[in-house]
Amino acid sequence: MATPRILSGIKPTGKLHLGNYFGMMRPAIEWQERGEAFYFIADYHALTTVHDPNALREYSRGIALDFLACGLDPQRAVIWRQSDVPEVTELTWLLSCVTPMPMLENCHAYKDHLSREKTPSHGLFAYPVLMAADILLFDSNVVPVGRDQKQHVEVTRDIANIFNRLYKSDIFVIPEPSILPAVATIPGLDGQKMSKSYGNTIELFEEENALRKKVMGIITDSTPVEQPKDPSKSSILGLYRLVADKDDIAEMEEEFRIGGVGYGDFKKRLFAVLWEYFAPFRRRRSELASDSSHLDRVLANGAQRARAVAEQTMKRVRAAVGISQ
Ligand code: TRP
Repeated sequence: MATPRILSGIKPTGKLHLGNYFGMMRPAIEWQERGEAFYFIADYHALTTVHDPNALREYSRGIALDFLACGLDPQRAVIWRQSDVPEVTELTWLLSCVTPMPMLENCHAYKDHLSREKTPSHGLFAYPVLMAADILLFDSNVVPVGRDQKQHVEVTRDIANIFNRLYKSDIFVIPEPSILPAVATIPGLDGQKMSKSYGNTIELFEEENALRKKVMGIITDSTPVEQPKDPSKSSILGLYRLVADKDDIAEMEEEFRIGGVGYGDFKKRLFAVLWEYFAPFRRRRSELASDSSHLDRVLANGAQRARAVAEQTMKRVRAAVGISQ
């Protein structure tokens, strides 16, 4: 098989947290070794929730810097801002016209909105179609996503199949989701999955004191120092396992089981390892941030490369539906 094209998007709705890093960014960066990596900042998607223009601009640039700081190589991978390739909105419309409403009514973000008695916007309802356009526009083979996004990739496959059947063609490549089970759920400060909507996150580039405060504030049960503690339910260990080396993890697990060490001590160790782990990324990020024209150039180059692919796909799609020769 030819080199697979791997595509994923990340929504700029705030600063990245550890859940985003381990759940999506790190695997995405690793994928650049295995295929042709296409990653974009999904600012059109963010507009379903972010209505502050300055915030949107800032988050978008911030996430692009995070990606580069964490090891994305813009020579090898293609990184761009979704809105710099507006063909995606055109494709969204063409896909909308073959997407059954019930398929979208069944999507969890929309259902979740309704169940909380909020009024969803049309953008929120159509979100999975825009996502399908992202994926199909670039002939993506593999889409690495968190478990919560798997349904959207399935919807994408369904839409692509409907379209291919309707127009009797193989216009669209059928993508496969790739979900990394081991790190699919990163524990947050309160023991639930780390998520911005739960307010339990640790940011990737947190200031030192803020990070210490957050780690020391991780919610635990009230098992006294001397007693054994449950290693399977602890957020402290859950996070430690992501950043510490094997022997240190085994040691902490053992100390949980035999008792004699308090949660405060465990948290101090977690803080130290977390801070160290991200130190090289922090240094690289501040270097990159000191020259904003560098990021502009990277994004412009990415947009140009992405657009070249998008234009080819759109030629095929327009011809198939009958809006060009
Ligand atoms: N919906 C994804 C999320 O919320 C972001 C996203 C948008 C995406 N378009 C995509 C992910 C295409 C993968 C492929 O995380």
